Amino acid sequence: MKLAVLKETEAGETRVAIVPKSIAKLKSLGFEITIEKNAGEQAAFTDADYVSAGATVASSAKEAIESSEVVVKINPPSAEDLATLKSGQIWMSQLFHRLNEPLIKELESKGVKGLSLDAMPRISRAQSMDILSSQSNLSGYKAVICGADNLGKIFPMLTTAAGTITPAKVLIFGVGVAGLQAIATAKRLGARVEATDVRPECKEQTESLGAKFITVEGEGVTVEGGYAKEVSAEYLEKQKAAVNKSLAQADLVITTALVQGAKSPILISQEQIEMMKNGSVIVDMAVAKGGNTALSKADKTVIHNGVKIVGVSNFPAQIPTNASELLSRNIDTFLVHMVEEGKFKWDMEDEITSGTLVTAQV
Ligand code: NAI
Repeated sequence: MKLAVLKETEAGETRVAIVPKSIAKLKSLGFEITIEKNAGEQAAFTDADYVSAGATVASSAKEAIESSEVVVKINPPSAEDLATLKSGQIWMSQLFHRLNEPLIKELESKGVKGLSLDAMPRISRAQSMDILSSQSNLSGYKAVICGADNLGKIFPMLTTAAGTITPAKVLIFGVGVAGLQAIATAKRLGARVEATDVRPECKEQTESLGAKFITVEGEGVTVEGGYAKEVSAEYLEKQKAAVNKSLAQADLVITTALVQGAKSPILISQEQIEMMKNGSVIVDMAVAKGGNTALSKADKTVIHNGVKIVGVSNFPAQIPTNASELLSRNIDTFLVHMVEEGKFKWDMEDEITSGTLVTAQV
């Protein structure tokens, strides 16, 4: 079977889906691998690295797609990719199928099977194949570094001959994969960290990292398929009251709260931003899904009343080497799961297969 790895075409994307280290593993599954020219360039992987790992280089996406049965990319297909795809091929990328019905219909009408990397079920055995987890983890780290960079202060306590600097106060909304890594990173840099989440089990996880958990009294939250469901307006009001004191004292706030298949909840209103200290910074990691603050803008820094609100929609693209390495490992592990003796198994009883195959035909 022939597998093509495409160069990403979305603006600002610097990652690549497969790195040279995965080539040997994919070959052992029976794949011949073609990589589009310069696909790994921005993540520091050269065409020569892929060739020495055993791949061949195609001069364009069209050539790579036309010569392959399986096509791998991180982001959904471009119009050109779609025009080149033919019946019987397998397309593998993030497809965001719940929000992207026309795209799924188009793949179906072309007779192309779509495997969506963002639809991986949240079950233990799929953890090593879950690109959302691996990328959130790195994003949690990078968001803290971005916050530190935007802040006119340092994180740790520092005693000097000229006086003592008190530690920065960091407040984190959402203690999932990204939030936990953000807590750990901010702690390592010496900050005082507080965090809050709708899932009560996050209290213990937050405290185990040495941070303080802010509990919101109320009904808590239902979790479905590993994802937090939308909470009530009443809960959000209680959350505001519980966090306001910490918000007013925070130097850096990082928001990570997502609700699957819906816009991200607004956790910080304009009024609350106006309560914050002059010079404080908010890094909104949910900005690609609408944002967790009333004033966030995707890929922009908004300054309101002396508070900087930084919205970064693709943190992993700022650390493309590690982000691509983890993605590639997720994808090669997924292919090991899906393929046997050089063929896709299409075992629809398997939760991983049925969850990720988002086009109708089998
Ligand atoms: P996520 O990216 O969907 O959301 C981030 C965090 O925001 C979550 O912790 C969520 O509870 C929180 N949140 C949602 N609404 C909120 C609100 N109104 N206020 C405050 N916080 C709010 O979640 P993520 O990071 O992907 O993971 C959530 C859980 O799922 C974690 O416990 C993680 O370990 C687990 N997980 C398990 C996987 C597996 O077993 N294969 C894979 C990925 C995650």
